[in-house]
Amino acid sequence: METKKAHILGLGGSLRRPSRTRRALEVALQAAAEAGAETRLLDLRTLKLPLYDDRPDPQTYPEDVFRLVEEVRWADGLLLATPVYHGTLSGSMKNALDFLELLADDDPPWLGGRVVGLIAVAGGSAGTNAINSMLFTCRTLHAWVVPTAVVVPGGAFQDDELRDPKVEERLKRLGREVARAAAVLAPLYKGG
Ligand SMILES: Cc1cc2nc3c(=O)[nH]c(=O)nc-3n(C[C@H](O)[C@H](O)[C@H](O)COP(=O)(O)O)c2cc1C
Repeated sequence: METKKAHILGLGGSLRRPSRTRRALEVALQAAAEAGAETRLLDLRTLKLPLYDDRPDPQTYPEDVFRLVEEVRWADGLLLATPVYHGTLSGSMKNALDFLELLADDDPPWLGGRVVGLIAVAGGSAGTNAINSMLFTCRTLHAWVVPTAVVVPGGAFQDDELRDPKVEERLKRLGREVARAAAVLAPLYKGG
């Protein structure tokens, strides 16, 4: 089967520094790069996104909104990593996903044709609901969500550094899976 060098964008949904979510995302992105992908990390902390308000003229949104939109347009696949906030994804991640409405008139629209891998970083150990919430949103955005998803429990970290080899391996598996699936799928949507 024909393959290309997939573009994989990591989107980190915590505004905290240092961010455990960002650390987990970096591990998965590194594995995607080792599997042959070209990777970029977009940290929502570096963007000044307003709250999405479904305004009549989206062109009036600030420049950072279009930075997000253009990075997603560049991507064949995404790794979405959220901290678990009150049992679900962070507001900043959901807000960023709402801005993908600006891709509604693209061909394919929204996240159509893009592979997505999901990561939730919890303080405790329960993050499945955050994964499922992102899954529902991504499905509505027409993404191809891969079967592997990773919940990173708080106990996997020491001093904000990831210290659990099993969790690390799972994150790497996710990164590879997204890179490989995106390499196969992208030519079907974007051409060779
Ligand atoms: C407002 C808020 C709500 C949180 N809610 C939960 C929760 O419901 N379950 C949980 O396991 N951890 C919860 N946490 C802990 C975070 O998920 C955890 O600290 C996470 O690792 C933070 O990631 P970060 O370092 O990338 O910001 C919460 C933290 C904050 C700040």
